Amino acid sequence: KLQPVLLSGGSGTRLWPLSREAYPKQFLALAGDDTMLQATWRRVADLADAAPIVVAGEEHRFLVAEQLRQVGAPTPAILLEPMGRNTAPAIAAAAMQALRGGDDPLLLVLPSDHVVGDADAFRAAVRKAMPAAERGALVTFGIVPDAPETGFGYIQAEQGDGVQRVLRFVEKPDAATAQSYLDAGGYYWNSGMFLLRASRYLDELQRFRPDIVAAVRAAFDAAARDGDFIRFDNAAFAACPSDSIDYAVMEKTDAAMVLPVDIGWNDVGSWSSLWDVSEQDADGNAHHGDVIAIDSRNSYAYARRMVALVGVDDLVVVETDDAVLVARKDKVQQVKDVVARLKAEQ
Ligand code: GDD
Ligand code: MG
Repeated sequence: KLQPVLLSGGSGTRLWPLSREAYPKQFLALAGDDTMLQATWRRVADLADAAPIVVAGEEHRFLVAEQLRQVGAPTPAILLEPMGRNTAPAIAAAAMQALRGGDDPLLLVLPSDHVVGDADAFRAAVRKAMPAAERGALVTFGIVPDAPETGFGYIQAEQGDGVQRVLRFVEKPDAATAQSYLDAGGYYWNSGMFLLRASRYLDELQRFRPDIVAAVRAAFDAAARDGDFIRFDNAAFAACPSDSIDYAVMEKTDAAMVLPVDIGWNDVGSWSSLWDVSEQDADGNAHHGDVIAIDSRNSYAYARRMVALVGVDDLVVVETDDAVLVARKDKVQQVKDVVARLKAEQ
């Protein structure tokens, strides 16, 4: 049985001023007509044997419920976190919820804020990974790296076809280490999507982080069930240590496997990656909204009103009702510093 789990906890600060705490990027239609959460469900709807389990921040409960209803998803179970504790606890809670039904399904854990250009190839990959996950592997999907990005996990895999044993999993190495992996070859980026049996994940987490399992168990057992919403006990969840599945389990387990995929994956972490996945004109410009570009190249503009670009290259311009961003495209990682500055001044 395949049980989709949608993670919706990030705040996407590098996509400021569009992505805000109250309205993070997974709820925005940045790449197409669907929001990224909606696109994530649509991508798996045909594979799923059950309504999705969504793990989200309490403050986003109506956005999640409404957006999934709009795309015809069967009524999801929505687990609500009073505060973020990263992905290891979120996936543990989803596993506990999945096990309540009496069976032990394969969890297809999906970030709700990624773009996948080739949904057919993605579904084929999931089917291909299922036998290994049935046998107890914690399967991730590997992306062929094209730059020494430091925001990803790196996976060294055994050579061969199909699902491979993971020799080494290194979460977010520094730039020099990432470059050495690219030079060496045989490494993949972790896409952050996982296929694993619910009980198997909890067993592995119990091995490495029994404190997290105990805290999530307490918060889950004392949760308030209110229709589709399942609210963790506030104090119990607050006491849960914060950690990601990557550090807590994937770096340590012997059961990790990776299936290299070519699915048009992009985690849309920044404005330049949004430019990458957007349709570009002959000059390499991409836009959303009313934009005129004259004598300009390789730029991205997002416009609520009208934006005109004249004689500029490699620029990002984002115009919203209450803020405007103008940035060099190769500096957009620093947009998160704007958010940090704004927070500090609050
Ligand atoms: N519900 C919930 N609660 N979801 C969360 C939480 C949380 O506390 N924290 C993060 N998430 C969700 C995010 O919304 C996102 O969809 C997903 O889990 C991954 O979290 P990120 O914070 O975006 O992780 P990352 O991008 O730094 O790193 C992960 O993804 C990379 C690929 O994009 C890792 O898995 C890396 O190894 C991987 O390369
Ligand atoms: Mg991410």
